[in-house]
Amino acid sequence: MEFLERSAEIADPLVPYLDVDRSQPRHECWVTGHMVAGLDGTAAINGRVGALSTAPDQALFRRMRQIADVVMVGAETVRREGYAPIRLDEDAQAQRRARGQSATPPVAVVSRSLNLDWSGRVFADAPADARTLIITCETADPSRLAAAEQAATVIIAGHDSVEPAAAMRALADLGHGTILCEGGPRWLGELVAADRLDELCLSVSPLMGGDPLPVSIAPPGAGLAQFELKSTMIEDHTLFLRYEAATSDDSHA
Ligand SMILES: NC(=O)c1ccc[n+]([C@@H]2O[C@H](COP(=O)([O-])OP(=O)(O)OC[C@H]3O[C@@H](n4cnc5c(N)ncnc54)[C@H](OP(=O)(O)O)[C@@H]3O)[C@@H](O)[C@H]2O)c1
Repeated sequence: MEFLERSAEIADPLVPYLDVDRSQPRHECWVTGHMVAGLDGTAAINGRVGALSTAPDQALFRRMRQIADVVMVGAETVRREGYAPIRLDEDAQAQRRARGQSATPPVAVVSRSLNLDWSGRVFADAPADARTLIITCETADPSRLAAAEQAATVIIAGHDSVEPAAAMRALADLGHGTILCEGGPRWLGELVAADRLDELCLSVSPLMGGDPLPVSIAPPGAGLAQFELKSTMIEDHTLFLRYEAATSDDSHA
């Protein structure tokens, strides 16, 4: 065991995340999860994430979207958090354009029910080069599917539910190599169970007492997934942990 001690100040906390080589995913594309938890593991306070996220976490959360070809999120998080199209500062947009990406990444919403407000900002205000995507399944309600097609670009990935592997294949086929998943816990748990989470950026907020909702909810029958700690940062009392899916069998030894 070793102490992790506070050391030199990091000039720009995004740089360690920008420097990660995500060009060799284990599967269809590289999937990064970005979540915040309380000390008791809670993922929300009164159904929202805002009060859980400290100022440095909020700043990093917004900027992390720069790494993404697509920002993917479960429908319940969109309903509760009132998602809007992704915004980035001018520098970040210019860097993305220089790399051949859209100035901002599109949002991809995962939903079986398609019970979504199609006039909401995430659909109505999306720029033409980053139209919002809906990832759904074959058994989705046809009239809601027709409404979804008016408001977004629809991807069908699975029969009764969205299958993570099929969804990632479809995104990869559209040229999206790096997917940033912002939750929520149910959709993240499905990705983990399907071995589709390559990286987890987890902020630990210095509080307890939120909702009894962990950052990832494993579907029934899911096995354990092992990760390796790659970096740690701290600002004030918020801890920033970066893990990658374990590549060796002895990561839990
Ligand atoms: N701490 C954090 O970093 C963080 C991050 C995000 C969210 N949150 C919090 O988490 C809560 C919401 O999380 P949640 O776990 O309840 O919801 P979620 O994962 O955001 O969304 C769940 C919904 O996604 C769709 N979905 C998930 N898996 C699917 C599949 N395989 N096929 C088809 N659709 C699928 C379904 O949508 P339909 O119901 O439309 O079919 C399902 O109801 C909120 O309180 C939010 O504030 C916290």
